[in-house]
Amino acid sequence: MNAHRSHKQFSRLLYTSAFNGDSSAVQPQQTVRDIAETSAANNRVSDITGSLFFVDGVFIQILEGPPDEVEKTFERICCDFRHADLRLIDLTGVSERLFEEWDMACLYEDQESSLALRDGLQEVRFLVGINASQAALQMRSLLESQSVGGEA
Ligand SMILES: Cc1cc2nc3c(=O)[nH]c(=O)nc-3n(C[C@H](O)[C@H](O)[C@H](O)COP(=O)(O)O)c2cc1C
Repeated sequence: MNAHRSHKQFSRLLYTSAFNGDSSAVQPQQTVRDIAETSAANNRVSDITGSLFFVDGVFIQILEGPPDEVEKTFERICCDFRHADLRLIDLTGVSERLFEEWDMACLYEDQESSLALRDGLQEVRFLVGINASQAALQMRSLLESQSVGGEA
């Protein structure tokens, strides 16, 4: 490992998946809130930070932290029956966290969501398909503009 690479002490992983549930029987938003709550508690212990967005039935999640912890957490997530069609979009070494303040920040739209939030979430969904690092930056700026706090 050369000197430049050794600065990249964190991994940042971005994936998408589809909500796996009968949306007529279960409120997806309630499931998303439950997942975010458990995730934040676990991630605090594992030194993982990140964000979980839910748009049109699709999860967009970023995990960042020590590479072995990101890997372990992602392996657990992959086995979770609450989502399906999981697609790893990006896994990269980074020197700094983008979501340092958030054990697992959560954003989704519901009936009360503002237009700005709806548009912002759609933009993230669009960016994920074309440029993962832009999507990550957009996720952070949306959290900041929505004043999402660090405590889930
Ligand atoms: C979309 C999605 C995102 C998740 N994100 C995380 C996460 O960031 N951290 C985590 O520990 N578990 C996450 N989980 C939950 C794990 O799959 C698993 O249920 C959980 O880690 C088990 O925790 P427990 O052993 O404390 O019950 C996620 C699950 C789903 C469906």
